[in-house]
Amino acid sequence: MSVVKENAALAALDFVESGMTLGLGSGSTAEIFIDRLGEKVAGGMKVVGVPTSKRTAECAIEAGVPLIEPDKVDRIHLTIDGADEVDPAFNLIKGGGACLLREKIIANASERMLVIVDASKMVEILGKFPLPIEVDPFGMALTAEQVFDALKVTGCKEAQTVLRQMKDGSGPLVTDGGNYILDSKCKAIPNPADTALALSQIPGVMEHGLFIDLADVLIVGEADHARVIELSRD
Ligand code: 5RP
Repeated sequence: MSVVKENAALAALDFVESGMTLGLGSGSTAEIFIDRLGEKVAGGMKVVGVPTSKRTAECAIEAGVPLIEPDKVDRIHLTIDGADEVDPAFNLIKGGGACLLREKIIANASERMLVIVDASKMVEILGKFPLPIEVDPFGMALTAEQVFDALKVTGCKEAQTVLRQMKDGSGPLVTDGGNYILDSKCKAIPNPADTALALSQIPGVMEHGLFIDLADVLIVGEADHARVIELSRD
């Protein structure tokens, strides 16, 4: 297990209080957090989690973290999730694990979003990590053309887009919601808010992996501690 991810996950626990409803993110860092949260629950902490993927739900059940369906909660106090890239304004690229639609639904509904990463995820400009875009399989080639145009028009010099495949080569990867993922190799996304808006206007795009103005707290795991950076949105 990665020590830096573990340190980030442990620092995130300091933000959790008994009685909270938590959004549970997806990915390896989020899973470490869920394991540690399970230990707190075993020790008497009372929380419920809203999972952002089937895999996260399985992980939470294994760790002993009680779950609740998103439509049964009044409020989500805090979401804890990983990221593929983070820029200095706390804008994120997410979706490396293909869970971006559900991750964004839950993050957007949460009072606070806490992002746990290792230092390799910190970038000056988003886009080296291919931008995941979740699309309806219907008319996907038409949607891909519109995605290409939206990226170009908002300043991305490159926009080569590929359909994500299953690792075993059995065909296109299908998300928990039954959609496909296009990965756009932009190299740099100079105007992330504009790009996010343009992508949101394409009907075949279910959601894109740009998380703009959603993260409130960033925890960067280091070898022997974690840096906690809180963003003030006043
Ligand atoms: C899944 C995600 C993950 O949070 C992201 O890919 C980071 O994963 P990891 O913690 O394994 O590096 O967005 O859709």
